[in-house]
Amino acid sequence: MKIHILFLIILILSAITSCNNTTKPETEDTTDKALKADTQKGKQLFATCIACHGNNGQGIQNMNAPNLAAQDAWNLNRQLTNFKTGIRGTHVDDIYGAQMAPMAQTLADEQAIVDVVAYIKTLSATANEQTIKGDIVKGEDYYNMACGSCHGTNASGNESLNSPKLTAINDWYLERQVLNFKKGIRGSHGDDKFGAQMKQIAGTTEEGQMLNDIIAYIHSVEELQ
Ligand code: HEC
Ligand code: HEC
Repeated sequence: MKIHILFLIILILSAITSCNNTTKPETEDTTDKALKADTQKGKQLFATCIACHGNNGQGIQNMNAPNLAAQDAWNLNRQLTNFKTGIRGTHVDDIYGAQMAPMAQTLADEQAIVDVVAYIKTLSATANEQTIKGDIVKGEDYYNMACGSCHGTNASGNESLNSPKLTAINDWYLERQVLNFKKGIRGSHGDDKFGAQMKQIAGTTEEGQMLNDIIAYIHSVEELQ
């Protein structure tokens, strides 16, 4: 019951926010759409990424680095821009973000980000291994109540709501990010307007079994895709 009320509050809050933005739709994409991607340059830039994210951008759990290949370009762009500008990865307790932030600095400008992302999108995505177990049926219920309105049916993401695809990333990474949002390690920077939305939601998500169930459900959808 508690979660229904919270969800209602969130709906009201987002309605208020969207009213404030009637003149200018809430799109943050700072990328100049006119920039033409050069995948060859992107490939050279990606050489720096391989040690942690793997040859095919599949992610390496031992390096704490997630799968990139299945993620949508708009979110890869945003996260790289956020790391580069210090919106993400600068919280004192963000030990994993601190590993990634200097790597984003190797991308000189917006063009370099566009190039490396275009290269990542040429890589074929591999399925993520399951590392977190949970009750898929309960997880689906929780997901539909608490996450689906933003992250979409089947957790496939919703760019117009700035909510990334969740089936693209590893289950351990998904857990870490929700907990980071919950603890304010991610989403606390003053300019992180999208992270702030997610931080609010994570605050209402119980860690432990409920989160495991949601994650197991998202993983089960990934397997079907
Ligand atoms: C030293 C290891 C390391 C290298 C090299 C590295 N990364 Fe990362 N990257 C990480 C880690 C660790 C994370 C997870 C950060 C977190 O948990 O918040 C990450 C996260 C990311 C994310 C965020 C994904 C998401 O969905 O939130 C993107 C995008 C990314 N890296 C792209 C790159 C690119 C492009 C390069 C090369 C220019 C690169 N990384 C090089 C370690 C690395
Ligand atoms: C009000 C809309 C909203 C709801 C509801 C919501 N999210 Fe999010 N979520 C977002 C936004 C916006 C972002 C992007 C934050 C950013 O760009 O850093 C996000 C980001 C995330 C990320 C980080 C993905 C990545 O690649 O780095 C995870 C994981 C996540 N959400 C999980 C969840 C889960 C699990 C639920 C349900 C318990 C949920 N979200 C509910 C809006 C929402």
